[in-house]
Amino acid sequence: MHPLQCVLQAQKWGPLASVSWLLLRTCRALSNLPSTACPSPEKQQEDGVRKDFSSRLATGPTFQHFLRSASAPQEKPDMEDPPPYVTVEELLGRQRKVYLETYGCQMNVNDTEIAWSVLQKSGYLRTRNLQEADVILLVTCSIREKAEQTIWNRLQQLKALKTKRLRSRVPLRIGILGCMAERLKEEILNREKMVDILAGPDAYRDLPRLLAVAESGQQAANVLLSLDETYADVMPVQTSPSATSAFVSIMRGCDNMCSYCIVPFTRGRERSRPVASILEEVRKLSEQGLKEVTLLGQNVNSFQDSSEVQFNNAVSTNLSRGFSTNYKPKKGGLRFTYLLDQVSRVDPEMRIRFTSPHPKDFPDEVLQLIHERDNICKQIHLPAQSGSSRVLEAMRRGYSREAYVELIHHIRESIPGVSLSSDFIAGFCGETEEDHLQTVSLLREVQYNMGFLFAYSMRQTRAYHRLKDDVPEEVKLRRLEELITVFREEATKANMASVGSTQLVLVEGHSKRSATDLCGRNDGNLKVIFPDVEMEDINNSDVRVRAQPGDYVLVKITSTSSQTLKGHVLCRTTLKDSSAYC
Ligand code: 5AD
Ligand code: SF4
Repeated sequence: MHPLQCVLQAQKWGPLASVSWLLLRTCRALSNLPSTACPSPEKQQEDGVRKDFSSRLATGPTFQHFLRSASAPQEKPDMEDPPPYVTVEELLGRQRKVYLETYGCQMNVNDTEIAWSVLQKSGYLRTRNLQEADVILLVTCSIREKAEQTIWNRLQQLKALKTKRLRSRVPLRIGILGCMAERLKEEILNREKMVDILAGPDAYRDLPRLLAVAESGQQAANVLLSLDETYADVMPVQTSPSATSAFVSIMRGCDNMCSYCIVPFTRGRERSRPVASILEEVRKLSEQGLKEVTLLGQNVNSFQDSSEVQFNNAVSTNLSRGFSTNYKPKKGGLRFTYLLDQVSRVDPEMRIRFTSPHPKDFPDEVLQLIHERDNICKQIHLPAQSGSSRVLEAMRRGYSREAYVELIHHIRESIPGVSLSSDFIAGFCGETEEDHLQTVSLLREVQYNMGFLFAYSMRQTRAYHRLKDDVPEEVKLRRLEELITVFREEATKANMASVGSTQLVLVEGHSKRSATDLCGRNDGNLKVIFPDVEMEDINNSDVRVRAQPGDYVLVKITSTSSQTLKGHVLCRTTLKDSSAYC
């Protein structure tokens, strides 16, 4: 049986679901070797290795191998237990240099570090210089068509780099990682023969094996989605020593199935990382001196850690009032409020944020905790997507405009001074001018501090199969422009209200626009710019200090725009001491 056939059948048989989807292509590199080439002794040795490897690969993994993998579904691919057609040596990076390029959301930034962590353990080196790379990996996004087009264009540029590669160097390998690998699978391999490996969002542990297969000139892919992969034990490597903040992934995937969204198809089912491993990572970051952690997930507040049996009681999750889910209510496990409480107790001087939440999962316990705990930022992202109940229903968001507005009021009452942000889509299937005006009115009514606005981009989702993408492109763009204008006007007004206030700012470094200014973020995550001058330290009035990245300072706000605040610095402080002044 052909190995691919075997694996495809295996996927249908449930218990074999842990078997990687391994796609092998005919060997190109060997047949491409020009007859005039005179390989160096190192290269001859490498060719020998490759020939030997190819003959082993040609026979493929045996059916017994798949059965063996299936009998241990929880086991992750391990360096000491490679599949029979790859030796431990072949899994090693042998100091090859990897260049990683990230596209899309914050989850992808985090995934890039997970992929790097796996490769680093395997003996690869990282380079920030494209020209010296032996392996180029693009961590991709599929959420809108434009994001995918960017990758196709980038591949054209990389093709030239691969073709021009000197024969004295090891062949350049190119990989597509993440959502686009998951969504397009063979289409990428067929359209771009220069792509050597594909790894879906749940296959990063398999990168050393995929690269080992690619060594022989074969294309290799693993796009199997997992029900339990959270990379809990793969701590991302903190690469920037001057960093003040870090992202910590707490859950992956999404069960919501909003009708426009590709995420459930590219990232799979929702699963949460065990609380203990999250706390361990946050403690490490605190020890390294980081001052801000953002908990990350596609649906961060539906967190549910069921790994500890004693907490698996039958109590259902509390939803926000007037909200429903597209799935059966989830029961038991350690929930988001518990995690947020624990994380915020690790280091009282460390700010805690989270993104991206769904409005349905804001029970009162979460709001109360955010209100009470000094180091949990009073900032909530509440993606509305539309202001029209009719469109919200077509989107399968599980709430009406009225329920959403009521939640906004409730949040504002529970957390005075909270900063709010949202996502909106302009021109979704069937959106009329009246629907659009309702979105405009929601923007006016709520007056968000930050907004992320997009024109609808048809993806192969439920909407693709059941609805019509009937809003013309120019209308989508016109509506988007209108939303952006209204959002900016309202954000400017909302930010104006902070003129004259004193805000706690975590310093990030010098402003990009001016070397004499510093830049940081306030509690609401807005950028604050202020002159880099000497100031008093609140705990030691004898010394004058200059603020450094990672310091907390108090800034008096003097002017604002829709996206930035400006002011002058009052003193250096701590998060704990600042509550008396802000
Ligand atoms: N078209 C446009 N925007 C989309 N988003 C998700 N899917 C699409 C799509 N098909 C937006 C939503 C989501 C954000 C991350 O991206 O607003 O909240
Ligand atoms: Fe997509 Fe909806 Fe899930 Fe967000 S909640 S990732 S928009 S399906």
